[in-house]
Amino acid sequence: MDKRPIAIFDSGLGGLTAVGALLDLVPNENLVYFGDTGRVPYGTRSRRTIRRFAAQAARFLMGFDPKALIVACGTASTAAMGSFDCGVPLVGVVEPSVKKAASVTRNKQVGLIATPASVRTGAYSACMRAADPDVTLTERDGRLLVPLVEAGRVNPGDRVTGLLIEEYCAPFREAGIDTLILGCTHYPLLSGYFAAALPGVTLINAGQTAAAALSGLIKPSGLEQPGSLRFFVSDDAEGFSEQAVLFLNRTIGAEFVDLEEVLV
Ligand code: DGL
Repeated sequence: MDKRPIAIFDSGLGGLTAVGALLDLVPNENLVYFGDTGRVPYGTRSRRTIRRFAAQAARFLMGFDPKALIVACGTASTAAMGSFDCGVPLVGVVEPSVKKAASVTRNKQVGLIATPASVRTGAYSACMRAADPDVTLTERDGRLLVPLVEAGRVNPGDRVTGLLIEEYCAPFREAGIDTLILGCTHYPLLSGYFAAALPGVTLINAGQTAAAALSGLIKPSGLEQPGSLRFFVSDDAEGFSEQAVLFLNRTIGAEFVDLEEVLV
């Protein structure tokens, strides 16, 4: 038994897709989350900056003595995995989602939509080559989607969201993919739009696959009741709590943390 929490990190809200999956898979684990809402988005930044932010987030979370850390951010997973040492099992979203996609595709045509920084690193394509060299990965950056999700434009019938997703999905239709990796943890909130634009295509939720990979690595807490949940953000805690309902279908409380103050 190991009551230490699982730590989860994202640039903002998207990592809550991993939290939602953990609440289903391992409800009796204690969780501690950091969303770097004061510096989101990461997806348009340089690798050097993303690495610095990710290392700071990991350092903050290590203060909670976690038993494992999930980098529940596609961008940080592609740009910063391996660039900091945390001394506990570390899971990002790239490998679990790629392995899942490689295992479910039938026609070996897989799509990836992720942030510009994620696509630029080539991390998903390198991982796919290793997982199954026969798979062709069609990649596309969805740079306008994170601001839409952060603005809550996720409900069915949003014309702007619908048009954008249609446009982003055109190369996937042309390639005839049967599986699409939603390689940014914000995107599962737009699953309905992707499903409508790409009928019959299997959608892979990167945060969910990371949560599933991690739950197989940890020693259970042994708690007989739901674990504790703590959420920290580097900007507006109230706003985060309000938007979190979209991801978790429940209300949560979040605490503000000033990383510059706590990491001195
Ligand atoms: N959650 C981030 C990711 O998965 C997207 C938001 C950002 O650009 O920081 O890449």
